[in-house]
Amino acid sequence: MTFGVRTALRGIGTTIFSEMTALAQRTGAVNLGQGFPDTDGPAGMLAAAQQAIAGGLNQYPPVDGLPVLKEAIVQARQNRYGMAYDPATEVVMTAGATEAIAAALLALCEPGDEVVLFEPYYDSYLANVAMAGATHRAVPLRPTDDAAVAGSRAGAGFAFDPDDLRRAVSPRTRLIVLNSPHNPTGKVFTRAELELIAQVCVERDLIAVTDEVYEYLTYDGLEHVPLASLPGMRERTVTISSAGKTFSCTGWKIGWALGPAELVGAVRKAKQFMTFASGTPFQAAVAHALTHELDWVAELAKSLQERRDLLQAGLTAAGVRTYPAHGTYFLQADAASWGYADGGELCRDLAEHGGVVAIPTQVFYDDPANGRGLVRFAFCKRPEVLADAVSRLSTFRPSEGK
Ligand SMILES: Cc1ncc(COP(=O)(O)O)c(C=O)c1O
Repeated sequence: MTFGVRTALRGIGTTIFSEMTALAQRTGAVNLGQGFPDTDGPAGMLAAAQQAIAGGLNQYPPVDGLPVLKEAIVQARQNRYGMAYDPATEVVMTAGATEAIAAALLALCEPGDEVVLFEPYYDSYLANVAMAGATHRAVPLRPTDDAAVAGSRAGAGFAFDPDDLRRAVSPRTRLIVLNSPHNPTGKVFTRAELELIAQVCVERDLIAVTDEVYEYLTYDGLEHVPLASLPGMRERTVTISSAGKTFSCTGWKIGWALGPAELVGAVRKAKQFMTFASGTPFQAAVAHALTHELDWVAELAKSLQERRDLLQAGLTAAGVRTYPAHGTYFLQADAASWGYADGGELCRDLAEHGGVVAIPTQVFYDDPANGRGLVRFAFCKRPEVLADAVSRLSTFRPSEGK
């Protein structure tokens, strides 16, 4: 007798990030695959967590989060973007942004609904769309050399065709998921692009779910603009973010969703039967960090920009074509620079014989052929680790792996 997995989940395997991290551990390669920092967050936040544990904050918190965390989330949003939310009804804490995204899609989609995603997309979106019994349509972000279109300061970047977006919306479309700053491309969506997305949402009466986990990590003077801040969007947007990337504590899994009470109430309903609640002492520490550690975050963004430069300059000097990354932890490079047509093949050979782990960008696409020539490197590592990786990447030759 065999017991199968639900049809919708059959195509879903182990995430590529776990797979590549295991490969890095087995081969001793430098791991520029999974996006997690190799240094800790602000000392004050770590101390706040220890104090919360010692002080007895170790039982279930309220389902939507400790009041002190909800207040801090709302206040930080107000200070940074001038947007007001009611901490009592318009914010819910989640187990990372991952749970917020899952809860939003499960709570807001009916089976048969369509969800629009920009591709390449973060892998959990697709799994969650499938779990909700919905289907998706992808709007491709394509490499372009037109800096103005890409919103790039560096000559090239990724952009979508407005007609692709309009074509992706059908009478069955329920919502659009937008991730900016964008993993895996490092793109920060421009105000003009966001206005277009907002216009489509308003015209077609769609909900927007925004994944803003890299909201503080933008470079080169580019600003993160929340989609919810555009006209007509606040009332239809679930804004999702988390502490993991902002405060270098990806293992704490403290995330949140903000939005109008009706939408956030739906997210709360779903999440109460997923984790119910989690991370009480870490919630207290993140409340501290959102209130007292944002200068630390500004320094983190500066340091990440320098580390991006270190990796990018090293790759360029080695004759590798890279794309600008104005936000996030990631930059894209052309597999062809190492003589590979397929980024997946390059990543396997690099891990086995080149001593570096990267992620093949094709895993973030519906049709892997679209991202076949690209690989993603994470630069959220210490400068000496990046320098070591650059020296390995510069000397790697395909023939060594074949
Ligand atoms: C775009 C994007 N969304 C969500 C997440 C997950 O966030 P969290 O760790 O808060 O669940 C990540 C983590 O890499 C991410 O890159």
